[in-house]
Amino acid sequence: MKFRRDSFTPAPARRHSLERTPLVTKPDYGIDEPCVIRRLVLVSVALPLLGIALTIAGLVHSHLIMFAMGATSVIVAVGCTATIFLMIKSSRHGKQRVRDTVLNEFQFRGDERVLDVGCGRGLMLLGAAKRLREGTVVGLDTWSQEDQYKNAPENTFANAVAEGVPLDRVRLQNGNMCDMSFIASDSFDVVLSSLTIHNVRTRKARQRAVAEMVRVLKPGGSIALVDCRHVREYAGHLERTGWVTEVRCSPVDWNMFPPIRVVYAKKRDGPLMEEV
Ligand SMILES: C[S@@+](CC[C@H](N)C(=O)[O-])C[C@H]1O[C@@H](n2cnc3c(N)ncnc32)[C@H](O)[C@@H]1O
Repeated sequence: MKFRRDSFTPAPARRHSLERTPLVTKPDYGIDEPCVIRRLVLVSVALPLLGIALTIAGLVHSHLIMFAMGATSVIVAVGCTATIFLMIKSSRHGKQRVRDTVLNEFQFRGDERVLDVGCGRGLMLLGAAKRLREGTVVGLDTWSQEDQYKNAPENTFANAVAEGVPLDRVRLQNGNMCDMSFIASDSFDVVLSSLTIHNVRTRKARQRAVAEMVRVLKPGGSIALVDCRHVREYAGHLERTGWVTEVRCSPVDWNMFPPIRVVYAKKRDGPLMEEV
């Protein structure tokens, strides 16, 4: 099922079942941005070949510009290789550290309802679930293959099994974050989102997504948005809803590459929110 990323049309909300859950013993939260990594691999392989050819030709013909272009190609290829390494390291280790830092900011009672918007293979979702005794976690996603390697609800359930999270406390739902009209207002104690909102291309649509997250949050509930881009913009969107308080942005966190920031806020106590 495909959704246009910036679309406001109601996404067909569909619950996922456990039928095709593979059995794994170790959780695997996937490699983020596999398309970007694939492109970088191509460049890292092609550029050195071109660079070496140009450098040799430049040396043989004493052609300075050709030599400089060859050397530059090799330097760019080294930069791309380093970026690939940092991105994979970030997906494999760094984002787990960021998850723990973010979840440590919340004092979980143990009976909360938590929503992870763009849960992918369940990094935040299951991290939160492990801190609950009886609460439930809901993961909303479009399961885009562009944004995470082998992104599929079956793999999220498999990670839940590997993490020892009881499956009756995990719900997965297909849906577009820009329109969560299938979720009632004031439903969740905590709303989390990691590396997801930047995938929405326009500022207006990102504002809509943030407003939707605030709408479904219970009065007094907490929200944390992790991202590598636009985080200050999200802080502005949160404030513009007029429904949140204690908005604060974390410093840049280099545990991930690209580095991330987190914006935290709380929803004011009060009556049901008006349409933003
Ligand atoms: C880089 S992955 C991050 C996944 C997970 N939060 C994590 O930190 O590992 C981004 C996720 O956002 C999801 N996504 C992208 N656009 C979305 C949209 N409009 N609504 C809901 N999810 C979306 C993708 O399918 C993907 O699972």
